[in-house]
Formats: sequence, structure tokens, C-alpha cells
Amino acid sequence: MRLLPHRPVILATVVLGVGMATVALAQEDVFDFIPEGGRTLLQNARADGLSAVLEAAIASESGDADAWGGRLEAAKADVPAIEALDSWQTDTLAHYLAANAPLAADAELPRDGRDMALALCQSCHIITVVVTQDRTQEAWLRTMNSPSHVEIATTPAEREALADYLVINAGIPIDQIPPELRAGGASY
Ligand code: HEC
Repeated sequence: MRLLPHRPVILATVVLGVGMATVALAQEDVFDFIPEGGRTLLQNARADGLSAVLEAAIASESGDADAWGGRLEAAKADVPAIEALDSWQTDTLAHYLAANAPLAADAELPRDGRDMALALCQSCHIITVVVTQDRTQEAWLRTMNSPSHVEIATTPAEREALADYLVINAGIPIDQIPPELRAGGASY
């Protein structure tokens, strides 16, 4: 679980003023407190530039999260975009690569745990039910295989990837949840 926010919360409405575009943007931004998943972390790191060694590993190697964690730690010496990741982000990216690599350099990146949580976990209850829980992978998989959840369209591998993302990134303290997402959101 995360003990600290990994970046300051920026209030888009305050910065940008009021207007229709701002309203739409502010609505999207309500989920900014949910930490980035591996797809976004990888995309951003690539935009900043990865080393040839790391790109080659991503394009050709598989491995578990420990193996990828080791490769990422090694890359920190000469890749600023990887050096800039905090320990939760490094762990999140390591699990994403464990679930998805090898990944061709030009392939569309598969959805990550955050993508899945936002797409799949809000239709019956608010996302708060999910992101405030501090749980083991086994407990997450038990929830996802429960009668209320078993029909959600995911492959077993995606459930595992979502569970791994949530082990690292959920357990967000309630005072970091935007007020509009704190109460009264469950409709089941
Ligand atoms: C089809 C409706 C539906 C969707 C979609 C859904 N849930 Fe739920 N969820 C429920 C219901 C109903 C409950 C309360 C009953 C229960 O606990 O099974 C619940 C409760 C929960 C709880 C608290 C109780 C528990 O089992 O620990 C968690 C955590 C949870 N859901 C996680 C998720 C996640 C993660 C997703 C997305 C992968 C998700 N939910 C998507 C219906 C849904």
C-alpha cells in the first residue's frame, strides 16, 4: 500500500478558471489521485528516452516481477526516466512488464491495472470501494472470482495483472480521495 501521495494534487479548476472545457477536464481529473499504471509509466519513460539495452530487453525478454525489478534498477544508472520513478512506480512497472513483455517496440501497449479499474470497476459501485482496500493478491483474486465479479470481462492473466496493480497502488487513505468520491457511491 502507498503510505504517501507520490505527487501533489493539482486542482485544474483553480488553475484554468471556469468554462465548459474546464468542466470536462475537471471531471476527468477527479481520478488523478489514482496512481499511474504500467502502460502510462512505460509510455512516459519512452517519451523521455529509454536506453537501447532496456528497449531491447522489453522487446525480447520475459521474466517475473523480480527479474524486471532487477532490470529496472540496473537501468537507473543511465536512464533518467527510470531513475525518476519512485519505488511504487518501479514496482508497478516491473509487474506490468512481467505480465506483458516481450512487447514489440511499435506494438500498442496492453491495458494496465489502472486502465482496467477505471473501465471495469465503476459500473456497480464507485471506484473508492476498490482503491481504498489494502489487500494481498490472493484476496483481490478472491474478490474478482466472487459471484458479484466473476462475469467482468477479463482474462485470468488480466485479473492477475489488475490484482498486482492494486496490491501496490490501492489502500489509498480516505483523506486523499476527492470528497465527491467519498460517500454514497455504492448502488448495490
Ligand atoms: C457487475 C457489478 C460489479 C462490478 C462491475 C464490480 N463490482 Fe465490486 N462489488 C459488486 C457488488 C454487488 C459488491 C457487494 C457484494 C460483494 O461483496 O460481493 C461489490 C463489492 C466490492 C468490493 C468490497 C467487497 C469485497 O468483496 O471485498 C470490492 C473490493 C470490489 N467490489 C472490487 C471490485 C473490482 C476490483 C471491480 C473491477 C474489476 C469491481 N468490484 C467491479 C459488484 C460489482
